[in-house]
Amino acid sequence: MTAAAEGRKRDTLAIGAVRRNFAPWADPAAVPLIRFEKVTKRFGEATAVEDLSLDIYEREFFCLLGPSGCGKTTLMRILAGFEEPTSGRVTLAGRDLIGVPPYRRPANMMFQSYALFPHMSVEKNIAFGLEQEKLPKGEIAARVAEMLRLVQLEPFARRRPDQLSGGQRQRVALARALAKRPKVLLLDEPLDALDKKLREETQFELMDLQVKLGMTFLVVTHDQEEAMTMADRIAVMDRGRIVQVATPGEIYEQPATRYVAEFIGDVNILEGRIGQGEGGRWHIAAPEAPRGLLVDGGGDGVAPGRQVAVALRPEKLRLLQDEPAPGTPNVLAGEVWDIGYLGDWTIYLVKLASGRTIRVSRANATRFVERPITWEDKVFVTFAPEAGVILTR
Ligand SMILES: Nc1ncnc2c1ncn2[C@@H]1O[C@H](COP(=O)(O)OP(=O)(O)OP(=O)(O)O)[C@@H](O)[C@H]1O
Ligand SMILES: [Mg+2]
Repeated sequence: MTAAAEGRKRDTLAIGAVRRNFAPWADPAAVPLIRFEKVTKRFGEATAVEDLSLDIYEREFFCLLGPSGCGKTTLMRILAGFEEPTSGRVTLAGRDLIGVPPYRRPANMMFQSYALFPHMSVEKNIAFGLEQEKLPKGEIAARVAEMLRLVQLEPFARRRPDQLSGGQRQRVALARALAKRPKVLLLDEPLDALDKKLREETQFELMDLQVKLGMTFLVVTHDQEEAMTMADRIAVMDRGRIVQVATPGEIYEQPATRYVAEFIGDVNILEGRIGQGEGGRWHIAAPEAPRGLLVDGGGDGVAPGRQVAVALRPEKLRLLQDEPAPGTPNVLAGEVWDIGYLGDWTIYLVKLASGRTIRVSRANATRFVERPITWEDKVFVTFAPEAGVILTR
């Protein structure tokens, strides 16, 4: 590892340590910086954002996640002042933003289709906003240099946008948006055009910068892994509404709905009907599990007779070659249908008698296994009661 990379790694670890105690949303006394209250935005007949309420806190790294057309860009444009909501209120630090023009708002937006000034060099593009603000020349030069370093474009400072690749242009747009150090930075798919490696590096750089400059970030990404890596909290959207707002860990481990469970990461869903309760757990009759299921918890609306879905993450399932003792619940019998070897993990697709396939992932912690599981093996998929999440919606 180079000294620079070593330094970056240390910085990144330090961020984790700082951020561990950051949870203003859990503090009833904390006042949100940005507040959407019952915001609706219609374009003619179409509703892009519907009755949406959301609080974002100062210094938060907040990600919006959701399928194409669910209203992410519209929500950002409302905050930046490029759209007025049809109804509802948006406030920043307690101040009503409705009617305030974009350039008077302390929020800067980097657009999904960013427009660089074609006739200006990279450094001039980055400096543009700072010159508008009439910052001292020395300060402008220092910030431009810092930004060029950040996005690794120092050698390209004198080039024009048409002399750059798509990914490089995107980094210029990112640098330009960051250079002004707005209180709130809105980034609409900022890393979209970058290749995987640069994208991952830039994710950590962004997190680092956000902490160092004390900025509040609202970021749209279609990449759920990216959201999980960067965000303090994630909002999952569906057709103009927010389905769940929570930390990445909560979104993954305690999805509120089937939609969220299926949107974030891989998941197996078993349908079933709630039976008897037993010490905080529920027996569930599921056609695909002849011995029945026994699953922890369950939120509102879980009651005997209720039709539910049980969400099971692939890494929480175990694969056995020997049949579990009679009477054990949570056993799915099947046959290994396919195996995907990913190096660190192996994914097994197990076909049940119903014809459904279940995904099971296993960490390859040892190099040699005595009885490797292979294609067409009869296997048993089992899991602990706490591995499942009961979903009523
Ligand atoms: N100016 C407009 N006029 C009419 N409809 C619009 C306008 N802007 C957005 N919409 C519609 O509003 C909905 C939400 O659009 P938006 O751009 O916010 O989606 P998005 O979540 O950002 O999607 P993507 O991930 O594809 O960027 C879409 O159905 C879109 O067609
Ligand atoms: Mg968009």
